[in-house]
Amino acid sequence: MGKGSWRWPAFAGTIGVLAAVAGAQAAGDAIVKERQEAMKAMAAAAKAAAGMFEGTRPYSGTALKEAAETVRVHSGAAMKAQFPEDALGPPSAAKADIATDREAFDRIADRLEELATALSAAADAAPNVLSDEMRMSNQPMLGGSLLGARMKKADEDPADLPAEHVFHLVLDTCTSCHSKYRQKQE
Ligand code: HEC
Repeated sequence: MGKGSWRWPAFAGTIGVLAAVAGAQAAGDAIVKERQEAMKAMAAAAKAAAGMFEGTRPYSGTALKEAAETVRVHSGAAMKAQFPEDALGPPSAAKADIATDREAFDRIADRLEELATALSAAADAAPNVLSDEMRMSNQPMLGGSLLGARMKKADEDPADLPAEHVFHLVLDTCTSCHSKYRQKQE
């Protein structure tokens, strides 16, 4: 024991506190980075799918499925787990409201999974060609007065909808969550 060793317990205590803070921050940073990467992967997938529906990118069931699966694996339970209460607010763009609105937030994440699952199944069913049946324009009712009722019902079962419509609902779901729970970037 040298001179000054009497200070050790206090010093050790300080190190312990600093290590705990650094640890919590590192864990928080890691999950923020992880979810931002997941969001970026979904954005790239959405862009690829949009290209296929718009005809600026060749269609393949495999490519559409890959895009749908990228969204599916990052939504639902995986997404919900990436927004723990202690990793909300600045410097991330995730609003602190997520903690207080947990149920509503989780419902959107689950809805995204449901839609991505339906899109993935539609891609399986159409390996080579983006058929007319997969198009929104092929729904006579969409132009008619039953639109409201149809959309509402459709919202509950995406498996009955043309793939393109499901894809639009996917994009709506991204936007509806962002408008509530993502801080606008200046
Ligand atoms: C349930 C809510 C929710 C859903 C659904 C959702 N997002 Fe997000 N998204 C967020 C939140 C919150 C952030 C901010 C995350 C952060 O900064 O930590 C975000 C951030 C992003 C970002 C920015 C990532 C970065 O680099 O900082 C992109 C891109 C993005 N989302 C794309 C999408 C796409 C595409 C979809 C749909 C396929 C989607 N999101 C669905 C909540 C959601």
